[in-house]
Order: sequence, then structure tokens, then C-alpha cells
Amino acid sequence: MKRLDGRVALVTGAASGIGRASAIALAEDGAAVMLSDIAAAGSDVAREIVAAGGRAAFFPADATDEAQVAALVRHTLESFGRLDCAHNNVGVGSTGVSVVDQSWEDWDRTIALSLTSTWLGMKHQIPAMIAAGGGAIVNTASMAGVRYSAGASPAYSAAKAGVVHLTHYAAHAHAADGIRVNSVSPGLTATAIVATMFTIEQQADIAAQGQLIRRAVQPREIAEAVVFLCSDRAAMVTGVNLEVCGGKR
Ligand SMILES: NC(=O)c1ccc[n+]([C@@H]2O[C@H](COP(=O)([O-])OP(=O)(O)OC[C@H]3O[C@@H](n4cnc5c(N)ncnc54)[C@H](O)[C@@H]3O)[C@@H](O)[C@H]2O)c1
Repeated sequence: MKRLDGRVALVTGAASGIGRASAIALAEDGAAVMLSDIAAAGSDVAREIVAAGGRAAFFPADATDEAQVAALVRHTLESFGRLDCAHNNVGVGSTGVSVVDQSWEDWDRTIALSLTSTWLGMKHQIPAMIAAGGGAIVNTASMAGVRYSAGASPAYSAAKAGVVHLTHYAAHAHAADGIRVNSVSPGLTATAIVATMFTIEQQADIAAQGQLIRRAVQPREIAEAVVFLCSDRAAMVTGVNLEVCGGKR
């Protein structure tokens, strides 16, 4: 018996990086997984899961568009009959600007992608979970939302701090509905987007300076935390922000 046998999970931003790893890990632990992304490559990940013997499908949706987010939840219910777990993972990490240099356009886009998408996801997932008798939500925050991170923009840091508190709020508001809500805060994680910002050597330097465990986090290591928080092994864990960052110094 796997930890998530019989459960249905939804993952946003599932075409690459942490979301891809999370969708694969949830499926390996027995969940039927609805992957969503604006990138069509999400359907390749769904095919990969099915080829490995899992249950998965892909539904393209923009996580900042309410009509598309609502359609994603409806499609999940039509395809798999229920919704038990959701990983709201879409976010974008703008870098290298100060409070003074931060542009209005980047502020708006970053807040929409990294914070509004999380709220919109939960807004439509929670009623479906209540109908299923409960559920578990995991939101991707960031260590940049927990502590000052010189490389992260003010918009990104504020958006991710918002994800941490929104998670805490939703955990309180929906505990009586049988819904647990937690967040994971990755440290620097070796995904393709990070590779466009930092060389492998720079990633190793950042990890060595800022962490107790002196290497970048692997996407699968975030995914393992997501699976745990979605599973009944975390039955008494809610409102928590789990830092998966090799221990901040
Ligand atoms: N990689 C890191 O070091 C790191 C650290 C802390 C937090 N995070 C957070 O983890 C999450 C995933 O990051 P990643 O490194 O895997 O990035 P990634 O770029 O590899 O994955 C993000 C995915 O989101 C999708 N996406 C973008 N905009 C979307 C939209 N509007 N609607 C639907 N999908 C959309 C992209 O197509 C992509 O597949 C983000 O929230 C990010 O802020 C990452």
C-alpha cells in the first residue's frame, strides 16, 4: 500500500523544476495526478508518469486567470472524480533589483505569479476538497519570504512572505473542514530556471556561504516534503512552513 493510493492530486507549474518533480513523486506514491502549466511540456511529464505505470493527465491553465483555475479544478473532478491534494507551485523569482529600482510592472507580475496564483488555486480547490471530506494543500513559498535574501527582488520576497502567511491563514480557516494547509520553502534549488541565473559554481558558492549543508537542493528533495505533507503521515501537521534549504546559517 502506497502513501497516496486512491488519492487525487493537482500540481501547478508541473512542466518543469520543482512542480515536475512533485508530480512524479506524488504519482510514484500512488496518487492520480492532474498536472497543469502554461507550458505544453507538462503533457510530456504526464506521459512520462503514465509510461511508468502511474495515473496522470495534463490540463493547460494560467494560474493567474480565475476562469482557467476554475476550469482546471472542474476538469480534475471530471477526470478523476475527486480532489484530495493540491500543490500550488507557480512562482517567478525576479532578481537583482533594490526597493528603489523595483519597477511597477515587475512588482505586479511577480505578485500575480507568486502570490495571487496561490490564493486563486486555494479558492477553487477548497470547495472541491470539502466535497471530498477533507484534503491537504501545499504551497511553494521560498526562503526569500522567510529571511532577507540579497539576490531576491523586493516583490518576490514580499510575495513569498505573503504565501507563508496566506498558508497559515488558510490552515486556521479550514481546519474544521478537514483541510490541512502547509507550505514548503525551498532554498536555492537546482532547476533549469536557476541554471539561467547562476552557474553550477555560483550555486555551489551560494550554498556554501548560506547553508549548513553546503550544496544546492535537488527538486526531488522538495518533492519528498510535498508528498509527506500531502500524506496521512502528516495528519497532525498544518499551518507549517517547512524549510527545505539545507539549514540556513
Ligand atoms: N528553484 C529555486 O531555487 C527556488 C527557490 C525557492 C522557491 N522556488 C519556487 O519554486 C517554484 C517552482 O520554481 P522552479 O525553480 O521549479 O521554476 P520553473 O521555472 O522550473 O517552474 C515553474 C513552472 O511554472 C510554470 N508557469 C509560469 N507561469 C505560469 C502561469 N502563469 N500559470 C501556470 N504555470 C506557469 C512555468 O511554465 C514552469 O513550468 C516557484 O514558486 C519558485 O518561486 C524556487
